[in-house]
Amino acid sequence: MKRVLTYLFAAGMMISAASLMFTSCTKEGPQGPAGANGQDGQDANATCTQCHNFSDMIVAKIFQYDASQHATGSTTARNAVDCSPCHNSQGFLECLETGAWVTTEIIQNPAPINCRTCHLIHETYTATDWGLRTEASFTNCLGETTDMTTEGGNATGNLCARCHQSRLATPEITDPTSTTTTLQPTSYRYGPHHGTQSPMLAGTGGYDINGDGLLANSYHTGRTTCVDCHGATAAGATSGGHTLWANTAGCNIPACHDGAVTNFDYEGKQTIIEEGLITLEHKLALAGVVDTVGHPGYLNTSVAHTQKLLAIFYNYKFIEEDRSMGIHNFKLANGMIEDGIAYLESLGY
Ligand code: HEC
Ligand code: HEC
Ligand code: HEC
Ligand code: HEC
Ligand code: HEC
Repeated sequence: MKRVLTYLFAAGMMISAASLMFTSCTKEGPQGPAGANGQDGQDANATCTQCHNFSDMIVAKIFQYDASQHATGSTTARNAVDCSPCHNSQGFLECLETGAWVTTEIIQNPAPINCRTCHLIHETYTATDWGLRTEASFTNCLGETTDMTTEGGNATGNLCARCHQSRLATPEITDPTSTTTTLQPTSYRYGPHHGTQSPMLAGTGGYDINGDGLLANSYHTGRTTCVDCHGATAAGATSGGHTLWANTAGCNIPACHDGAVTNFDYEGKQTIIEEGLITLEHKLALAGVVDTVGHPGYLNTSVAHTQKLLAIFYNYKFIEEDRSMGIHNFKLANGMIEDGIAYLESLGY
């Protein structure tokens, strides 16, 4: 609410400044002449006030945005050089410029993700500042090219994907099919870490443990992008719009599910993934890969694991951390779970 008030104050300032400068409109005197055109043929009156005006548009966006996890989450305190690229505004903007995935220094006074992080706000002081900071494809933390552009040409997903991506797990799996070579990570937090949504949607993350190329992607891959579902028609500040909480309005547009989706567990697909993950975790625990004592649910680091078993564990974390329970890419998530379970069963678990 404070933000809205500050903003309204700023907007009020702009408008009163603009009317003083350009219309000299007072109660006593006659109306002055219209404001002169700005330089380069641009109407000076139409810069700040293109955004700072009496329309409720920005107020509505701020209202929605303030309810988002970006605004309310607690992780902006993560300002270390290797967390700042995704956890605060300054770190993101610095890395956008440098192309690195670490900032040069710890970010002091970290600002949460805000209008300026994603939009060009106050770069040219015109309405073109609503443009996004980036829609370009880029080299991700794993050194691979990421491009979330859809068939329809929407590239906004590249903005989200810069933060919502996998991070490097060390030691790296070099042959996910190997049942002979082993690896022993030292961190029980082994895995792709949080925010695996973009490689999940694009079908570029996780491992093909059978090496048979049979893992497939759902229809969503390459045809839908983050804001199609997370930025759909806003329902107040509860979902859609700049809350970025997915809602069924996004699913039900005529070109897509056209009213058929009443909840996210469409055709029971989320239930299939949730149950599959529970079975997979249970079998990984029986095989001694998932820890059941010190850090339940994480990697058992007291022994080495074959690359294949470690890849199954990684896939399990990849799907769990995606958190859409199959919505982003059901075929890929389900295929990885089935392959993992089948292999563990072949070992007798
Ligand atoms: C593209 C739209 C746009 C234009 C053009 C624009 N602003 Fe803003 N301005 C914003 C937004 C959005 C915010 C709110 C930022 C936030 O809350 O994070 C803002 C916030 C502000 C604030 C509050 C303090 C701050 O920085 O957050 C001031 C003061 C301000 N603008 C002044 C101006 C002036 C002066 C101009 C013209 C020279 C201008 N703005 C042009 C969109 C715009
Ligand atoms: C600057 C990095 C960054 C960008 C860009 C970004 N996100 Fe995020 N996002 C985060 C972080 C960090 C969190 C977790 C915040 C927290 O909980 O403290 C998050 C949380 C979320 C959540 C809520 C997850 C939860 O905890 O339930 C959703 C949904 C989301 N982002 C969607 C998007 C979409 C859609 C886009 C693109 C329009 C996007 N994000 C762009 C970093 C980013
Ligand atoms: C490449 C971008 C990126 C980097 C670098 C990054 N994170 Fe995150 N992190 C995210 C995103 C995106 C989310 C939100 C994911 C979601 O909600 O699904 C997140 C979520 C988190 C969460 C919340 C997890 C939860 O379950 O609520 C914590 C804690 C966290 N990160 C810690 C860190 C720390 C500590 C570092 C630095 C060592 C770091 N992150 C580096 C992108 C990143
Ligand atoms: C996490 C990134 C992110 C943040 C933070 C964010 N936006 Fe956006 N915004 C987007 C995306 C993505 C779009 C859709 C752009 C598109 O479809 O081309 C958008 C669209 C818009 C539009 C419509 C622009 C147009 O050209 O029609 C406005 C206005 C807007 N945002 C205002 C805001 C304001 C105000 C804030 C701060 C309260 C804000 N946004 C914060 C990502 C963000
Ligand atoms: C086809 C629609 C669709 C697309 C495209 C999509 N999402 Fe999702 N996403 C969902 C749904 C539905 C959920 C699950 C919501 C639930 O179960 O509450 C979800 C869950 C999430 C979550 C977990 C937090 C939450 O809201 O439950 C994050 C974070 C997220 N998505 C980010 C992204 C990002 C980033 C992209 C683009 C790389 C993306 N999503 C693309 C529909 C989509």
